[in-house]
Amino acid sequence: MSSALISPAPAIDPAMNNGAFDVAVIRAAFPALQQTVNGKPLVYLDNAATTQKPLVVIEAVNQFYRHDNANIHRGVHTLSARATDQYEAAREQVRSSLNAAVVEEIVFVRGVTEAINLVAASFGQRLNAGDEILISALEHHANIVPWHLLRERIGIVLNVIPVTDIGELDLSALPALISPRTQLIAVNHVSNALGTINPVWEICQIAQAHGVPVLVDGAQGLPHGVVDVQSIGCDFYAMSGHKVFGPSGVGALYARRPWLDVLPPYQGGGDMIETVSFDAVRYAPAPAKFEAGTPNIEGAIGLKAALAWHAALDWQAIAAHEAQLLATATTGLRDIPGLRIIGEAANKVPVVSFVIDGTHPHDIGTLLDAQGIAVRTGQHCAMPVLKQLGAVSGTVRASFAFYNTLDDVAALIRAVHRAHALLT
Ligand code: ALA
Repeated sequence: MSSALISPAPAIDPAMNNGAFDVAVIRAAFPALQQTVNGKPLVYLDNAATTQKPLVVIEAVNQFYRHDNANIHRGVHTLSARATDQYEAAREQVRSSLNAAVVEEIVFVRGVTEAINLVAASFGQRLNAGDEILISALEHHANIVPWHLLRERIGIVLNVIPVTDIGELDLSALPALISPRTQLIAVNHVSNALGTINPVWEICQIAQAHGVPVLVDGAQGLPHGVVDVQSIGCDFYAMSGHKVFGPSGVGALYARRPWLDVLPPYQGGGDMIETVSFDAVRYAPAPAKFEAGTPNIEGAIGLKAALAWHAALDWQAIAAHEAQLLATATTGLRDIPGLRIIGEAANKVPVVSFVIDGTHPHDIGTLLDAQGIAVRTGQHCAMPVLKQLGAVSGTVRASFAFYNTLDDVAALIRAVHRAHALLT
């Protein structure tokens, strides 16, 4: 079993897979990539923050608004039935894309941040002062702050799996960090700041041996491959639509079936109940129990289009293409005097975070933007790990998707050379 579990898988759409991955064909599906910015062709390298959207997603949302817009689960009229059918078909698409066993295990949420807050609030009701949650030093704020809130509210203890100086989790420390009070391990699949692919399968194996459930924050996982929650063996898996070529404000929490009945609701409102009186409320079964109020219906429909498109791609070819982007960018940037790459794990998605001696990341980001190159600069919502790796002012982060090209890499390297010459 691969430790990465963002694995190449056979393509399933023969139209997309003629034995070759054609990046030009892929790029043509993304209108936003066909523009100039500051007089230069856009080189979009901020994919870990959010991805661009293919036409199929734009058209799915457009079609919904033009023809099918209605609330779900509430109307007997035709539009409501259409909207409900599409929303539930989107749930089935998420189930299929994560390989969950049953569709009830998929709860729609706003994104990874809400998914983790849901688990912290709901699972958190089972916890007492002194119970322990184990996260890792590689987490972004969405997988730190919800646990901190629980610490403030009920006095749980937050423990941390350490990270090495190249940005890999130190799994040798894990068994000793699991105590009889450990109630949950919550780790990311892929680090947003460094690109490290974490060995979530091994973490789940160790956790299971101790009877501890695992939550995987998959925000950065699915954009780079095929995810199988049953192979990983996790109890919870969180994903965000906008990171995987779908709309913002929609995502999903996978919760393994045994948890669905045990966990209490997260928020109260319409659509999550069976009966309501002023004295008592009977909740609907999961997943409705966790979906109070009108959800992001059009978001779910756009997400369905994104995930169906994603599932049809040739992931073996994409893995090779992304590895080439990463290797070329890493080698080219390393040649720049005073440039230090932050995070050089053996197993990475194509994310290159770096600092240059004597410069501030924001200044480099501004100069790159003038060349039409979009990168993120700063802390990437992951202050603890950047502090540990000596990047207290943050980094410049170039995060690639499969629609990026070797020309994009070359443009980045040229522009960083130029920025270096101007700033030092
Ligand atoms: N988590 C997002 C990022 O890494 C916002 O940029």
